[in-house]
Amino acid sequence: MNQNIAILCSGGDVSGMNPALKRFVEYAFANNLNPFFVYHGYEGLIDDRIVPAGYSDVSGIITRGGTKIGSARSERFKESSYRRVAAENLRKRGISMLVVLGGDGSFRGMEQFYKESGIAFCGIPSTIDNDINGTDYCLGVDTALGVIRNAIDQIRDTASSFRRAFVVETMGRNCGYLALVSALTSGAELCLIPEIPVDIEEYKECFASQTSSGRDYFIAVVSEALNASSTVAEWFERELGFEARVNVLGHTQRGGNPSVYDRLMAYRFVTYAIDALLAGKTDSVICYTKSHFVFRTIDEVALHPYRLDEELLSLGRGQFLPSRCQR
Ligand code: F6P
Repeated sequence: MNQNIAILCSGGDVSGMNPALKRFVEYAFANNLNPFFVYHGYEGLIDDRIVPAGYSDVSGIITRGGTKIGSARSERFKESSYRRVAAENLRKRGISMLVVLGGDGSFRGMEQFYKESGIAFCGIPSTIDNDINGTDYCLGVDTALGVIRNAIDQIRDTASSFRRAFVVETMGRNCGYLALVSALTSGAELCLIPEIPVDIEEYKECFASQTSSGRDYFIAVVSEALNASSTVAEWFERELGFEARVNVLGHTQRGGNPSVYDRLMAYRFVTYAIDALLAGKTDSVICYTKSHFVFRTIDEVALHPYRLDEELLSLGRGQFLPSRCQR
C-alpha cells in the first residue's frame, strides 16, 4: 500500500511556498506516495484540517506568492496536549511523514512532536529574514530582495527629482541580511543594520561635503531591527537640511511572483526533503551551504543564532562605515 505524506507551512509565509507545494504533490506521486495538505500550519494539524492533495490543487500556483494552504504561528502547538491531538489526526490518516516549511522555532516544535509521536519530518528553511543557522539560503529571500530592489529603484526616480533624503526600512526581524544586500546592490549612501553598529553623527561631515559637491539626494536603507527609521529621517532634516521621507516596505517584501531562483530552490528543497524521508531520516532540516545541500539536526540549526556571513559583512563595512564615506 502507498505511504501517506503531508506538507505544511509554519510562520511567516514566503514567495516560493506555492512552487514548493506543486513540487511536493508531483514528486510524492512520482514516488508512489499519497500527498496531503495541512492547512494553516500547526493550527491545522490540531484542528484536523488535513486533506488529500492532487494535481488540480497545484495547477497554476507556481506564479503566486504566499501559500495556497495558509500558514500560522501556533501557540497551542507548544502544549503537549494539543500535540497529542495533532499526532492522532495524522495517525488516523496513516500519515507518517511530514515536510515542514518554516523557521528554526517551527523545526524545534517539530522535533518535540517527532520524539513524542514517532512521525518523521524534514524541515525546509523558509523565511525572508535569511536568519536560520546552518543554511546560507532560506526559501523566499531572493523574491524579497527583488521586491526591495524594485522599491528602491523606483524611490530613486523620485528622490533624484527632488532634493530629499529617503529612508527605506526593510524587514528581517533581528537580522540585517535583507538591508545589507539591498544597500550594496542599490547604490545606497547609508546602510544601518544591527551587525554593523555605527554612530550616525559620524556621517555628518562627509555627507555635508558630498552635498556641497553637488549631491542632492540620499538613500538610506535601515533594518527594522534598529527601529530607527524616523530618527534617521529627522537627522537628515536637522543636520543636513534635507527634506526626508520614510518608506517602510513592510509586508510587500513577503509577497509577489516567486523569482526563478526561489522556484528552483523550492523544487530542490522539496526533492531533497522527500528523498530524506524515504531514506529513513526522521528529524532533519535540509540546508543549502556553499552550493551544496546538507541535512542538519535540529540542534545544529536551532541551538545557535544565525550569524551574517563575515565576507558580506566586511563588504558592508568597507562600503558603509563612516570612515569609508567618500567626500
Ligand atoms: O519573519 C518574517 C517576518 O516578515 C519578519 O521579517 C517580520 O519582522 C515579521 O515576520 C512580521 O511578522 P507579522 O507578519 O506577524 O507582522
